[in-house]
Amino acid sequence: MKRKNQTEEINRRRFLQIGATFAASAVFLPLSANNAFGALPSYQAENSIPKITLNNGIEMPMLGFGTNTLNGPTCVRCVSDAISVGYRLIDTANIYGNEEFVGEGIKQSGIKREKLFITSKLWVDDYGYESTKKAFETSLNKLGIEYLDLYLIHRPRGDVKGSWKAMEELYKEGKIRAIGVSNFEPEQLDDLMADAKIKPALNQIETHVFFQQHNSYKALKKYEIQMEAWSPFAAGRNGIFTNQILADIGKKYNKSIAQVCLRWHYQRGIVAIPRSSQKAHMIENLDIFDFELGKTDMKTIAKLDLNITQFPEWE
Ligand SMILES: NC(=O)c1ccc[n+]([C@@H]2O[C@H](COP(=O)([O-])OP(=O)(O)OC[C@H]3O[C@@H](n4cnc5c(N)ncnc54)[C@H](OP(=O)(O)O)[C@@H]3O)[C@@H](O)[C@H]2O)c1
Repeated sequence: MKRKNQTEEINRRRFLQIGATFAASAVFLPLSANNAFGALPSYQAENSIPKITLNNGIEMPMLGFGTNTLNGPTCVRCVSDAISVGYRLIDTANIYGNEEFVGEGIKQSGIKREKLFITSKLWVDDYGYESTKKAFETSLNKLGIEYLDLYLIHRPRGDVKGSWKAMEELYKEGKIRAIGVSNFEPEQLDDLMADAKIKPALNQIETHVFFQQHNSYKALKKYEIQMEAWSPFAAGRNGIFTNQILADIGKKYNKSIAQVCLRWHYQRGIVAIPRSSQKAHMIENLDIFDFELGKTDMKTIAKLDLNITQFPEWE
């Protein structure tokens, strides 16, 4: 117990030190090869979910809980359940309209704030320098927390650069531990980074077996920007949960299709944030760290790529 407290204290100090270091510097920092995504992090016995180190030095769980479409009491229950079974990364967004319920779920879980990694996103209506600062405070208030672990620009439209400037300042003030983007193509990242003082830590994009995003995968690796998969199950589209190829692979390891998919993301070094409204699924989705997909299976899954979005309505 004493050792656990000491570890927590060391981690807390490390976080404060890192915060101070980054508050003092507004430059792109080089990243060691070990931190680049694609290199599997070491398994951490004290926590069942391995962590990845982002390009600003902070750690993030490789597997988290998505909350899109969860709302009201269902959202409260799901977030609280997810935390109770071991999730520590919780992904929400202003546009989901559920930040209050996510916040209530966190409160009901009884977990200490610093044990969690909470992501929210800035919606397009709030882009621009001033509006971003206001929207950020609104998100914090709705969530009932004092800082965000990760804040993302939700889509590459409008005054992205004005928003980024505001986010850089919030980051330097210690109100956000890492800043990043979502749904950015490599060229859109180039444009943002041309004027940015702080490089995005992460890009959250649609990624699943049917849309493997090889172009972004390579570019993000080169840029040392962590890739995160939204809709890691393609939200169930294209028959993913009845796909015979995935089912056959799963049988070999005594794992479900969902577990094969999540393990595939993990072995690619991608953070995934599956959503579920069922506690049994939440538990199943966490149980992916005791097996390894062989090279042949990884190659077979690579062939499932259709190289096209499964969400054309959002294009
Ligand atoms: N940045 C963006 O633009 C963006 C866009 C979309 C999503 N996101 C984020 O990514 C998260 C995940 O994406 P998503 O919500 O679209 O979908 P998803 O996680 O790909 O899939 C969710 C679906 O999978 C089912 N499921 C979960 N675990 C299962 C299991 N073990 N077996 C069978 N079915 C299972 C769920 O049903 P049950 O409820 O029955 O388990 C649900 O219908 C979102 O919640 C959100 O946080 C971000």
